Amino acid sequence: MGAIILVGTQWGDEGKGKATDLLADDVDYVVRYQGGNNAGHTIIVGDVTLKLHLVPSGVMYDSVTPVIGDGVVLDPGVLLTELDELVEKGLDVSDLKISGNAHLIMPYHRELDAVTERYLGRQRLGTTKRGIGPTYADKAARVGLRVQDLYDMKIFRQKLDAVLKEKNAVLSRVYNRLPMKGADIETEYAVYAERLRPYIADTVTLLHDALERGKTILLEGAQGTLLDLDHGTYPFVTSSNPVAGGALTGAGLGPKDVDQVIGVTKAYVTRVGTGPFPTELHGAEGDRLIDLGGEFGVTTGRRRRVGWFDAVLARYAARVNGLTEHFLTKLDVLGDFDTVKLCRAYRYQGDEYDHFPPHQSIFHHAEPVYEEHPGWRTDLSQVTRYADLPKQAQAYVDRLEELSGVPIRWVSVGPARVQTLDRE
Ligand code: IMP
Repeated sequence: MGAIILVGTQWGDEGKGKATDLLADDVDYVVRYQGGNNAGHTIIVGDVTLKLHLVPSGVMYDSVTPVIGDGVVLDPGVLLTELDELVEKGLDVSDLKISGNAHLIMPYHRELDAVTERYLGRQRLGTTKRGIGPTYADKAARVGLRVQDLYDMKIFRQKLDAVLKEKNAVLSRVYNRLPMKGADIETEYAVYAERLRPYIADTVTLLHDALERGKTILLEGAQGTLLDLDHGTYPFVTSSNPVAGGALTGAGLGPKDVDQVIGVTKAYVTRVGTGPFPTELHGAEGDRLIDLGGEFGVTTGRRRRVGWFDAVLARYAARVNGLTEHFLTKLDVLGDFDTVKLCRAYRYQGDEYDHFPPHQSIFHHAEPVYEEHPGWRTDLSQVTRYADLPKQAQAYVDRLEELSGVPIRWVSVGPARVQTLDRE
């Protein structure tokens, strides 16, 4: 037993919550390793639907210890509200472990996220405005505050005052906003500190000890490969590393600890926020796919952009994550189309690219080279065995597998756990 990494292979919202739910019976720890409350995971167990933003999905299961790792950025007020809501729904959250190395999202991070987006105007990224980018920027600039700073308020205040000087100058002089008071922030965060105290743990030691005891750890990615700061469609990305490499740095594990890397891949593609999207569908066909797939953001409620499956991206994700298998989601959503398209390559200025283009301009202007496959025009939601899928649906899955170069182990045909077909 070792670690399993679960990553999104597209621009997020691939259905990672559903995949985690399926694996949860066989794992002992579920670790969030990057991102913050920009994420939104929907999990349906029985008749309970949970929408989680920061708490790892493992919180749903008594046998699983949920862990917030070093690479996460944590908004303490948001986390505590989420925990309160979970307790109200009857869940026991007392097992949660939080790394003291996780960085704190501060009020000025949220404010800066909002005002810089406004300032960018047409160049804006369409962020979730949760303060994610500014918090990671401060981490890299080494002026961030970490969860452990909450437990030495003298140091907390010293660091806060030092950084606030610069933040207030920017907020007031550049963006014409009111400066923030260190004392107010200290008072607010001191309350959070006390409430969070029972959850703080040395998560790196905890996870390594668990591996030594033969336990299984699921490293649960948020967002997706194309939103990765290094490997995504920069600058239209998030500020962390959702890819499998980020799982290791974000949790404090090494490559040898990992047994499996599962890519969660939707049978079509969606994206929220701005940025290039070669297979994007506009007009009635796109609207239909949005409605059929219920493609609205869990965190912001924003309408997602949708498009046909992009095998160039799937192949790229397979490589940069070292995928061992795919978990294909939402195949049922395509059951209403006469023909189903998939993009096998891009065309740009007469050349064909079957790998992710090396320059952003090519990607921005890439024209999809489509294959058209006959639709199956059948409701798949009741199918319980892969062999019972219509042959057109099986042919589509086979082709996705062939083009992406990695086996598709699971196929999901609905939101419930039972609506998952295991091909093994
Ligand atoms: P940020 O992560 O809030 O800085 O937003 C940067 C980009 O990532 C924006 O385009 C967001 O819409 C996108 N993004 C962030 N989190 C998610 C997610 O969980 N699903 C899909 N897109 C996301």
